[in-house]
Amino acid sequence: MAKKLYIKTYGCQMNVYDSERIAEVLAPIGFVLSDTSDDADMVILNTCHIREKAAEKVYSELGRLRKQKATKEKAGGRMILGVTGCVAQAEGAEVLKRAPYVDLVFGPQTYHRLPEMVARAVRQHGQVLDTDFPEDNKFDSLPSTRTVEGATAFLTVQEGCDKFCTYCVVPYTRGAEYSRPVGQVLKEAQALVRAGAVEITVLGQNVNAYHGTGTDGEEWGLAQLIREIAAIKGLDRIRYITSYPAEMTDELIEAHADIAKLMPYLHLPIQSGADSVLKAMNRQHTVAHYKTIVQKLRKAVPDIALSSDFIVGFPGETDADFEETLKLVEEIQFIQTYSFKYSARPGTPAALLDSQDEYHVPEAVKATRLARLQAALNGNTLAFNLGAVGQTYPVLLERLGKTPGYLVGRSPYMQTVVVAAPEHFLHTIQNVLMTQAGPNSLQGELVNSAQRATA
Ligand code: 5AD
Ligand code: SF4
Repeated sequence: MAKKLYIKTYGCQMNVYDSERIAEVLAPIGFVLSDTSDDADMVILNTCHIREKAAEKVYSELGRLRKQKATKEKAGGRMILGVTGCVAQAEGAEVLKRAPYVDLVFGPQTYHRLPEMVARAVRQHGQVLDTDFPEDNKFDSLPSTRTVEGATAFLTVQEGCDKFCTYCVVPYTRGAEYSRPVGQVLKEAQALVRAGAVEITVLGQNVNAYHGTGTDGEEWGLAQLIREIAAIKGLDRIRYITSYPAEMTDELIEAHADIAKLMPYLHLPIQSGADSVLKAMNRQHTVAHYKTIVQKLRKAVPDIALSSDFIVGFPGETDADFEETLKLVEEIQFIQTYSFKYSARPGTPAALLDSQDEYHVPEAVKATRLARLQAALNGNTLAFNLGAVGQTYPVLLERLGKTPGYLVGRSPYMQTVVVAAPEHFLHTIQNVLMTQAGPNSLQGELVNSAQRATA
């Protein structure tokens, strides 16, 4: 009998990738993915530690699952409850203490050992904690076949971070920077395409710092890796995320100009528009440096769309600093952004600063700044979407729309596009004329749909 596995994923795409791989590791021992935790035989929370709110969500979800687990046990069954991801890595023992009904806590580097951990938990009926940074690399023992749900797939090529931005927990939870060897990445990319991927998003916490061993034994950068991935037949689109500005090489910028499959979109977090704040954050770029990168990118690919991350209320951020951020946003015109209120993370240098009154930015100030920033950013996104009306873009149709007869896809610039299209167009790229734009999506019409629908 198949056992039901439910995985809930929080946080970034790297967690989404890990969750897919966890399911693949558990499949040979009889676990089949389910889309609900009801009656599941195993539930895994793949968690995020980046901001306090993200971490707290995990404990409230665990409280809910505790009841389901008890119900299942009363009926004579068993629900194995596991926690992985960055909360598990950062506070493993604490999770077991705060939620003693959790069976397994394992880090993002040890899930290849899950079959053994599950066996131990079942045998001993006790708690299992495995948050090592092990000698054996998980990528060497993960299954070589891949399953792809839709048309687009994630592929982690680099993990960890040595940058130590002063606000960030990632260097502590994900460890030192590590790049997978090129040969291994290429094999996985081929497996993804064989399994139906039309688009691959190459992932890494600092993906543009990628420096894996190449097929020639030399160290390769991301541009060279992408070039090889682009040679795979049947793959149409490549994206990569997340990039660190100071690692944006000319070679990678040029790759945007001459690899047709590399989409004209780049997520390049700047965090703040004030040099003093960037310095206190230990970012290795200034505003001027960032602008130079943008200029080069736009010279190489005039239509490149840029997205970014921002933190408001970093300890010591003044009103004038914040105005600089607004000025930068106006100047660069990002098409998509993620902005957050600074959240003090235990153990990080910025948390120490934040604990001093003269640096701490009050919650109300943070809230006002975030609202102002988001209003400006949303204005940019809407303007960009409105500018698309009347244009025809190739759209990768990724999923069924809410309304029957409609499909939802993505433009090269990552815009969500809703279009009336036959279901057999799912997972294909079609030319779509943009007819209407809103802040979050565009509507369009298939171009030459009559011929295409019967093609
Ligand atoms: N507080 C608020 N935002 C944070 N980020 C990272 N750490 C923090 C923190 N302590 C944001 C950054 C990063 C994104 C993934 O999350 O903007 O780019
Ligand atoms: Fe965190 Fe900075 Fe590393 Fe990004 S570059 S993961 S923000 S420390």
